[in-house]
Amino acid sequence: MNNTLTIALSKGRIFEETLPLLAAAGIEPVDDPETSRKLILDTNQQDVKLVIIRAADVPTYVGYGAADIGVAGKDVLMEHGGEGLYEPLDLGIARCRLMVAGPEHGGGKQSRLRIATKYVQSTRRFYADRQEQVEIIKLYGSMELAPLVGLADRIVDVVDTGNTLKANGLVPLEHIADISSRLVVNKAAMKMKHARVTEFIAHLKTAVSA
Ligand code: ATP
Ligand code: PRP
Repeated sequence: MNNTLTIALSKGRIFEETLPLLAAAGIEPVDDPETSRKLILDTNQQDVKLVIIRAADVPTYVGYGAADIGVAGKDVLMEHGGEGLYEPLDLGIARCRLMVAGPEHGGGKQSRLRIATKYVQSTRRFYADRQEQVEIIKLYGSMELAPLVGLADRIVDVVDTGNTLKANGLVPLEHIADISSRLVVNKAAMKMKHARVTEFIAHLKTAVSA
């Protein structure tokens, strides 16, 4: 595995939006993760493999060196903290905004606001900076449901078109951060596989600015 360059990607929008960038670096997967059950995908280059994992697991695989390189949303990186990782390139894909949202006429705030989110660290930091005491309820998805059933007053989630909020009678209230996906590189791989990694980054940089 030592000579192999391993790239960690999640299925769905990150995989799809990263494909043209990989192609610019001359890398084309042999299998399609949407139809294959394989978790390690071969590519047209014998010494380049793709590993297909959950979006939130990408920084962990790359941080521990189980993958050399990965693509992860800034939202995910802000939660992870970035230990063991370099973040050399903003790929400009999967753009969205991390926001506080809630009902338009955001009901009676009795004491502390309850915020439902999978972004616990970012939410904690956002309210701590404002010196506002809130109760954070950790969820793993479908955050928009929480205010509708009385679990929380507000949510913190990523918003793109705003259609999901609208469909659930919610509105964006406060902007926390602009999000896009970043290339992350394991710190040891950056040293040990320096030539290959920097060449790969250079190809992607050219493709991103094209
Ligand atoms: P999982 O499917 O494993 O629960 P996930 O739902 O976060 O994870 P994706 O939906 O593929 O995975 O999102 C990957 C990344 O894309 C997110 O981390 C975020 O940066 C970005 N993203 C999420 N939703 C949107 C959206 N609606 N529009 C644009 N970018 C988005
Ligand atoms: C994400 C996010 C929101 C939605 C926002 O979900 O969790 O629900 O996108 O996008 P919008 O503002 O364009 O409606 P996603 O579509 O990734 O589904 P998921 O629940 O599988 O993460």
